[in-house]
Amino acid sequence: MKRVSHGIGAIGIVLLTGVPALAQAPAGGGQQAPPPMTNLQVWPKDTPRAQVIQTMNAFNDSLGVQCNYCHVQEGAGGRNDFASDEKREKRVARQMILLRDSINVVLPAIVGKPAGAGPTAAEGHPGAPIRVLCSMCHHGLPIPRSIADVVTEAATGGAAAGLAKFKELRTQYYGGQQYDFSENGLLTIAQRAMTAKNPDDAMAYLQANVEYYPKSARTYQAMAQARNAKGDKQGAIKDLEKAVELDPRNAQARNQLQQLKGQ
Ligand code: HEC
Ligand code: HEC
Repeated sequence: MKRVSHGIGAIGIVLLTGVPALAQAPAGGGQQAPPPMTNLQVWPKDTPRAQVIQTMNAFNDSLGVQCNYCHVQEGAGGRNDFASDEKREKRVARQMILLRDSINVVLPAIVGKPAGAGPTAAEGHPGAPIRVLCSMCHHGLPIPRSIADVVTEAATGGAAAGLAKFKELRTQYYGGQQYDFSENGLLTIAQRAMTAKNPDDAMAYLQANVEYYPKSARTYQAMAQARNAKGDKQGAIKDLEKAVELDPRNAQARNQLQQLKGQ
């Protein structure tokens, strides 16, 4: 696995450059003991190194970063100091560990699952409480945000700028856990444009969405709403007919269609 081997590589660099005093390697493997950890503040000082490194690899995955996001790690010839606290990100991460742990302390009582409960819910037992992980909030991003927030912010320059941002993120992250690229993503963004009384922008997002999801009845339904707001009743009727055709069980679209036709 790529990230695990990266973590081991990082330690390798520490071994080579971090401790010149321990220069003579033990006979045999040519490996020397890693330097003792000197600056654990939230975890017990004697936490086994392997356990710390395993958690560090999980941090990388959870936030979608490398070790040097939090640590001074310049590679061969540079400074490599995992104990240093000079990076703001490491200091924030320490507080984040405490935040996560404090959530996990109160969570069992909130959901009524006692900490000692068994792993599965069965026969009146509520099951074990779920432990909150960094990844549950961060989903692969150092600063977790929804696709709707990122695109809406970029769209202060109009829907074209918003769509450009969407496509850029989609190219980079599609298939990953970072952003919602289901039909919901652009639907939510279009809905925000409607709320901001901007049906033209909403149409631009929805038209892009039917290119990705040609069978999305909800997108046609939303397009009808946008066209209606622009005064294009005939266009709205066409879109609603398409929505009903794609999803005959969509009673809401059916009602909206009847209403529009009756007007
Ligand atoms: C999101 C930030 C973050 C990332 C990414 C991260 N670490 Fe850490 N690391 C920390 C924090 C915070 C501590 C201190 C924990 C404490 O105070 O108990 C730490 C401690 C350490 C220590 C102990 C240092 C000492 O001497 O006290 C080592 C070694 C270490 N990390 C290695 C790594 C490696 C290798 C990676 C990449 C695989 C990595 N870290 C990725 C935040 C991070
Ligand atoms: C309850 C949700 C939640 C949990 C759990 C959580 N984080 Fe965060 N974290 C956030 C949010 C939200 C931000 C961004 C805050 C902002 O910038 O406004 C953040 C920011 C950070 C940052 C600063 C990023 C930057 O570049 O400014 C780091 C580092 C970080 N988290 C590490 C972690 C680590 C490591 C864990 C697990 C030990 C963790 N977080 C658990 C929600 C969470």
